[in-house]
Amino acid sequence: MNSRPFSAACERNKEPILAILREMLADKTRVLEIGSGTGQHAVHFARYLPHMLWQTSDLPGNHPGILAWMEAEPLCNVLPPLALDMNDPSWPAGPYDAVFTANTCHIMSWQQVQAMFRGIGRILAKDGVLCIYGPFNYRGRFTSASNARFDAMLKEQAPHMGIRDMEAVNELAREQGLAMLSDFEMPANNRLLVWRRC
Ligand SMILES: C[S@@+](CC[C@H](N)C(=O)[O-])C[C@H]1O[C@@H](n2cnc3c(N)ncnc32)[C@H](O)[C@@H]1O
Repeated sequence: MNSRPFSAACERNKEPILAILREMLADKTRVLEIGSGTGQHAVHFARYLPHMLWQTSDLPGNHPGILAWMEAEPLCNVLPPLALDMNDPSWPAGPYDAVFTANTCHIMSWQQVQAMFRGIGRILAKDGVLCIYGPFNYRGRFTSASNARFDAMLKEQAPHMGIRDMEAVNELAREQGLAMLSDFEMPANNRLLVWRRC
């Protein structure tokens, strides 16, 4: 068995996220996860949302780790990762009735976030839902001192990274015909934003 990458943050946030996904994805069947990372979220959510087919995806460098989690926790409703890079306009055909992504908007450049929404606009079915987890700013302000420190650390690492404004992200969603359903406050100054395709 390959050694598995491990994210302590995923272990901490997977239960609070799952509690909301249970409700938001109750009547959905086919989800595309963008930026699956270690693969921990995928196997956990797929295990507890057995009515869903969970399609993982990420940059190819993360595929071995995702596959290692899939091998360690065999489930028939998780699909091996697709190579999906926001710099590349080729996306899976879809349609999907849900898209999930966690902790990606502040890692991708703003241009990549814009590309992500354009792609979601192409593959998300009518009445499909988009769930985005991570830290967000509101009206240009950090929601906590720790988020401000995190943002500074990201920008030091790479100037294209940084915590996004919820309003700017919501505007990208609106341009794709998505209406915001909910904005959940999550532990550790994170949010779970949910939209529905009209
Ligand atoms: C902070 S990690 C989050 C991983 C996982 N979703 C989680 O919550 O632990 C950011 C993820 O975004 C992915 N990512 C970064 N740039 C990307 C791009 N251009 N296209 C697709 N995914 C990208 C990374 O490969 C990584 O898996």
